[in-house]
Amino acid sequence: MSSTTLYGGVSGRRVTVRDLAAAKERGERWPMLTAYDAMTAGVFDQAGVPVLLVGDSAAMVVYGFDSTLPVTLDHLVPLTAAVVRGSSRAMVVADLPFGSYQGSPQQALESAARFMKEAGAHAVKLEGGRRVLPQVEALVSAGVPVMAHLGLTPQSVNALGGYRVQGRGQSGDELMADAKDLERAGAFAVVLECVPADLAQRVTTSLAIPTVGIGAGPATDAQVLVWQDMMGLTPRPAKFVKRYFDLASEMDRAVRAFAAEVSSGAFPAPEHTYS
Ligand code: KIV
Repeated sequence: MSSTTLYGGVSGRRVTVRDLAAAKERGERWPMLTAYDAMTAGVFDQAGVPVLLVGDSAAMVVYGFDSTLPVTLDHLVPLTAAVVRGSSRAMVVADLPFGSYQGSPQQALESAARFMKEAGAHAVKLEGGRRVLPQVEALVSAGVPVMAHLGLTPQSVNALGGYRVQGRGQSGDELMADAKDLERAGAFAVVLECVPADLAQRVTTSLAIPTVGIGAGPATDAQVLVWQDMMGLTPRPAKFVKRYFDLASEMDRAVRAFAAEVSSGAFPAPEHTYS
C-alpha cells in the first residue's frame, strides 16, 4: 500500500485481504457499502470505499422480493460483473445466495467459481457458523477469500423466527465460538449483524481478522450499510440505519419537475434540441 490509511489510500490497484488485515493491525476502521450496478459502484469506489458487497439484499432492493431467500446465482452474477466493471480500487465481495452453498463444500466451490469466473469477484460471503465450516475450509483451500456472516443471518429468517437481535445471553457464547472457528477455518473477515454492542466488542477484540458491523454498535473494525438504506431510499429502515441523504424525496422532486415541464412544454428547451 502506498499510504498508511486504507480508506482512499490504495492507488493503482484493488484493495486486497492483506490490506484489510493490515488495517486491523493499525486499528483503522473502514466503511463497506453494498453495490448492485456499475454507476453507483463507480461513485462509491471514487469516494474511497475499500470494499463493495454485492449483497443478497439485492433480492429486496433490486428485484422487489420480500426476503433474501428467492434470489439466485443467476440474479447475482450479472450484478456482480457490473460492480466489478464499474469499480477499479475496491475489493468486490459477492454474496452466496440461499441454496447455493449449504448443500456441500463442492456446491459452495462451484457457486463461488461462477462469481469469480463469470463476474470477476474477488471474494465471497456466506452466512452461518460452525455448520458451514467445511464450506469455508474448501473455499479457502481453493484460494477463494471468504467473508463470514454471524448474528442475524437473513437467509435463516424462518428458523430465527423473524428479523431480531441475536446473541443475547448464552447464545452470545455460541456466536463467539462460531467466530473463532470461522477465523481458524481461514475466513478473512466476519460480518456481525444485529448483535448487542458489547458482544460485538468482545468478538472484535478476540479475533485477529476484521469484524464488519451492521447493527452491532461502534466497536467493530468496519461498518456496512445497504446503500439504499443510508441514502434514504428505503421506506422503513431498521433502527441501526443512519440516513445520510433523503434520496427518495430528491428523486420525487426531480421527477415531478420533469413531468410538469413535459406537460407545460418547457422541456426540452432550445439548449436540449438539435438543429
Ligand atoms: O446482503 C447484504 O446486503 C448483507 C449486508 C447487509 C451485510 O448481507
